[in-house]
Order: sequence, then C-alpha cells, then structure tokens
Amino acid sequence: MRNLDFFERQWSTYRAVLSHDLMEHRAVEEATATALEHWLMGRRPEASPARMVDLGCGDLALLAPLLRRLPLGSDTGLDLTAAVLPLAEQNLGSVPYPVHWQEGDLLRWKSAEPVDILHSAFAIHHLSDPEKATFLRAARQHIASDGLFIWVDVFREPGETREAYLARYIARVRGWSALRGDQQEQVIEHLRQCDIPADRAAIETEAAAAGWHWHWAWQGSHRAEAMAVLTPT
Ligand SMILES: C[S@@+](CC[C@H](N)C(=O)[O-])C[C@H]1O[C@@H](n2cnc3c(N)ncnc32)[C@H](O)[C@@H]1O
Repeated sequence: MRNLDFFERQWSTYRAVLSHDLMEHRAVEEATATALEHWLMGRRPEASPARMVDLGCGDLALLAPLLRRLPLGSDTGLDLTAAVLPLAEQNLGSVPYPVHWQEGDLLRWKSAEPVDILHSAFAIHHLSDPEKATFLRAARQHIASDGLFIWVDVFREPGETREAYLARYIARVRGWSALRGDQQEQVIEHLRQCDIPADRAAIETEAAAAGWHWHWAWQGSHRAEAMAVLTPT
C-alpha cells in the first residue's frame, strides 16, 4: 500500500473518532479555550501579541475555530507528517496574524525567540519516557518567563503499567460502536505500536525537575485523556 493511502485511512479513522467525540475532544476544546482566554486576559496591556507554537498540530480540526478568534501575534504549526500541514492551513483559513507551517519532530523543535503559548494535543505520548523528559527540559528553554504550555494528552494512572493501560483502552475501543470493526482494529494497532502515555505522577516529578509548575486543568471521564497547564517556575 502507498504511504499516502495508509495516511488517508489512518487520518479518516482519526476524524471519525473526533466527529463521534470518542476521546472527548469537545470538552478538550472548551478547556483549551478557557485556559488560553484566561491567560490572555491576565496579560499586561503593554505586552506584545502572543507568539504561539502548536507541536503535532495535525489538521487543526480541533483548534482552528479557537485560533481564528484569539488575538495572537503569530502561530506556528509543526507536525512530523507533512501531509497534514496543507489540511491544517485549509482548516484554519484566513487569520490576521502570520502563520508558519513546519514539518518536523517536536523532540527536536527549537525557537529563536521565546514562545508565549506552547500547545500540544495528543502527540507527546508517542515519545518514550526519557524522550518526554528531554522534551520538557528543551521546551522549558524556549518558553517566555510568563508563558504557558498547554499539554493535552492521554496519561496512565500513577503506577499503572503500559500493558494494563493498553488492556483497558483497547476494551474501551472495542465498545466504540460508531466505528466499523476495521476502524477499531486500526486504532488498536496504533495504540499497541505507538502509544506510550506518561504516568501522571512520574511526569509531574519530571516536569518539576525541568522547571515547570504543573496544574491539571481538565480530566476526561476515562482515566486517560487530560489537559495539564504548565508554567515556568
Ligand atoms: C492524534 S494526532 C493529534 C492532532 C491534533 N493535535 C489534534 O489534537 O487533533 C497526533 C499528531 O501528532 C503528530 N506527531 C506524532 N509524533 C510527533 C512528533 N514526534 N513530532 C511532531 N509531530 C508528531 C502526528 O503526525 C499527528 O499529526
């Protein structure tokens, strides 16, 4: 199978997951809007418009409406999969600030200037645990002193093994009756191959060691999806 066919099949399954709200993206969207709008309202009036970076931006199906109404200074969407970037550009449409699209690995992401808003949704759990710790240290070097990092992802319960997490998530996917059987199997295959959710307690400790203050801003109803807001200590 061509790579693009594979991508299209995977992406159309992900879109089905989104449209049936199986990972609670609607609540994530609301929590993200609340956190960003609250942070923007609290900024000094003389502060320059916020620079935002979205790591693992995907096709922006989740974030585009919010990005269209935020008073940003610039936005950068970075993703490892080049094919999603034109989709993201199309979903975002026209906005009154410069937008940059970058194909790249979030683990190697760097910024020439401090970033005010860092955002990443459902991408960092693809990194190994040592890579997540490396990422947290690197991201801390690039965030403005009054900036914030919104990290939406799946997480394991404290002390839960990856195997135990996968077993309960796979059981959940088998109950996603809105998806066809082959789509459920695709999701399960992806989980088995790619998902390494952080242990909630361990990652808070790693984040503190990297110079971040951690706040759980939203918790989904399945002990997996959650949103953390990190600020520099
Ligand atoms: C599940 S999708 C989430 C997309 C979007 N953030 C959302 O919430 O709908 C994960 C995205 O992260 C990207 N991704 C995975 N690993 C990455 C990495 N190491 N660096 C950059 N992007 C990555 C994938 O290509 C994919 O577009």
